[in-house]
Amino acid sequence: MENLNNKENKSIVYNQDNNTFILNSNKTSYILKVLDSGHLAHLYWGRRLRSTNLDYVIRRRNWGSFLANTDNKENFMLEAISQEYPGYGATDLRSPAVELQFSDGSSATDFRYVSHKIYEGKNKLEGLPATYTENDEEATTLEIVLKDTLKPVEIVLTYSVFKEFDAITRNVKVRNMGQEDVKILRVLSANVDFNDDNFDMIQLSGSWARERHFVRQPLRSGSQSIESRRGSSSHAQNPFMALARKDTTETKGDIYGFSFVYSGNFLANVEVDMFYNSRVQIGINPFDFSWLLKENEEFQSPEAVLVYSPNGVTGMSHIYHNLYGKRLARGEHRDKIRPILINNWEATYFDFNETSIKNIAKEASNLGMELFVLDDGWFGKRNNDDCSLGDWFVNEDKIKGGLGKLSKEINDMGLQFGLWFEPEMVCPVSELYEKYPDWCIHIPGRIRSEARMQLILDLSRDDVCDYIIETLSKVLSSASISYVKWDMNRNMTEIGSAKLPPERQRELPHRYMLGLYRIMEELTTAFPHILFESCSGGGGRFDPGMLYYMPQTWTSDNTDAIERLKIQYGTSLVYPNVSMGCHVSAVPNHQVHRMTPLNTRGVVAMSGNFGYELDITKLSDEEKEMIKEQIKNYKKIRETIQFGDYYRLSSPFESNDVAWMFVSKDKKEVVVSFVRQRALPHPKFESLKLVGLEEDASYEIVGEDAVFFGDELMYVGLNVPELVGDYAAKMWVLRKVL
Ligand code: DGJ
Repeated sequence: MENLNNKENKSIVYNQDNNTFILNSNKTSYILKVLDSGHLAHLYWGRRLRSTNLDYVIRRRNWGSFLANTDNKENFMLEAISQEYPGYGATDLRSPAVELQFSDGSSATDFRYVSHKIYEGKNKLEGLPATYTENDEEATTLEIVLKDTLKPVEIVLTYSVFKEFDAITRNVKVRNMGQEDVKILRVLSANVDFNDDNFDMIQLSGSWARERHFVRQPLRSGSQSIESRRGSSSHAQNPFMALARKDTTETKGDIYGFSFVYSGNFLANVEVDMFYNSRVQIGINPFDFSWLLKENEEFQSPEAVLVYSPNGVTGMSHIYHNLYGKRLARGEHRDKIRPILINNWEATYFDFNETSIKNIAKEASNLGMELFVLDDGWFGKRNNDDCSLGDWFVNEDKIKGGLGKLSKEINDMGLQFGLWFEPEMVCPVSELYEKYPDWCIHIPGRIRSEARMQLILDLSRDDVCDYIIETLSKVLSSASISYVKWDMNRNMTEIGSAKLPPERQRELPHRYMLGLYRIMEELTTAFPHILFESCSGGGGRFDPGMLYYMPQTWTSDNTDAIERLKIQYGTSLVYPNVSMGCHVSAVPNHQVHRMTPLNTRGVVAMSGNFGYELDITKLSDEEKEMIKEQIKNYKKIRETIQFGDYYRLSSPFESNDVAWMFVSKDKKEVVVSFVRQRALPHPKFESLKLVGLEEDASYEIVGEDAVFFGDELMYVGLNVPELVGDYAAKMWVLRKVL
């Protein structure tokens, strides 16, 4: 109720009178409080408030059967109060955020406030990807130290408020201040307790070639979660979850997003308890995880990024797009227009030599493409997928004269040259495996299950990571390489490391991620001019952790334009369009064997980071002309597509007619795309109600003799002409009339 000093427009306010912390971004407040007992209570998260005292939200229960009294005080039950970062084994028996095991075997903890500090800016997370600031004014940080009442263990909760971006990041440190070992069994990066369950849960789920489909369903009593136990963030679930109010739509209503900046095993869980409270948690998956903390050691959790928007799913997506595009992605390519590429994978698979490669490149150059990417099969003895991962030296039988010569010849055609790697893997049939059979993840005596005839290198080992850095550096320095596609094509089985002691074996999946992050940090720093694109059998690791090192990701191995409608729609909930690799491929499509018109394939692929992946030497003259046109058009509008604001107009999960649009940041250019999936008899007159325009401005439709006001386009709509046949598409470019 009180309004003390929250008017000052500070990002973090501490009200000493009632031990309340208020975290303010431009449009949101997040409020927590130290209770008299020292426990941290969560009071509020949502629209920006003026208040610095929300004590009235803590209501005591006079009757709570089977709940334990905290500190044995009557009617004081932590379980009936929203908690900020709950432990396990004391008086809150809901899902804990942290669970430890001490040397006496016990695992009850009771963390209470010790101290806090507030500072401008945001610190790096040692060895982990995280959002960052370019100057200290962009974010304010709060660190709260908690200590267990019995054991010498501290927890540091860190919150950074990105004021302009309207986002809050969180991470957690656990410190062993004593002499005895402490085992971490669970340490999640964020916990938020809501005091009702009137929400739908949104998640992005799927499989290989069907990644990040949008799923929305009501919360129910008990736990509902998504997780990965696969050793990577995975095709099956994305490290993201949102809670939306039941009436929240694409453009209106409250939504709370939780995104995890990590590429390994994760858990995102909502527990609806017996009082209809919803506890949301996200962090490293506690399944098959533990971490031993010796005296004076600390463990750093990855970062969770929390976004609240009152403007529906679009509002949330825009915050993630802006933050991840500008303060998660890094490097010199972050703000640069991305090149239109041609990749030879679906054109040739393993069956190529330098002549066929050069023929494709020559044609690509004629058509206006800018980057040629040589995919899998250029190294070792690799003529199919049964050997040679790990042997990163060129196969001169296929590429006569080596990569230096080939890259120069391709450069001479006016194209940049890019190369595929799968550095984290080794094939049992390889020189590397012969030399170092223990360098892969394995358990002595157990079968080493192969997936795609490969095993995973043990990146928890420094020597293995150093080897990868050294080997790749050699190749990258040996030729004119402007782009790298970094692939990863299997999940972890028989998880064990020859180097870790028994009590640390369950640390392997996280240590693997730390090793991978070190490798990527060192290589992207050493080769700042190279544009890196991550990939994991398409989008098996399309996550914020990878985006920190590599500003774009191959969205899916499924290049069918109709399947891509759903994949790209789901991906766009969190990830900026510029981060999504989208290619036009051949028909019948290689994954689902569907025939779609070239125009439609172009419209869908042009909604992201555009490229081609088919044998363009085999196309008819007419098709080549169309491709030339697509490329010419994309070059004109790509700044708007790659860096503008993206709006989903109708969903492929709900509608036969799918539409989306982009508005440039300066609001002068608009691109609208429409795909009709199945042709229908007597279809209705479709008119698309655009969004994000200026009501009073006039917009001309490029190529048509038509000018409309913004309000007409938004409230009356843009007419879709009659379209013929299945999978027809149309794209409009509108320019503001000045
Ligand atoms: C999986 C990737 O997603 C494909 O694009 C291709 O690079 C293959 N691997 C090559 O093996």
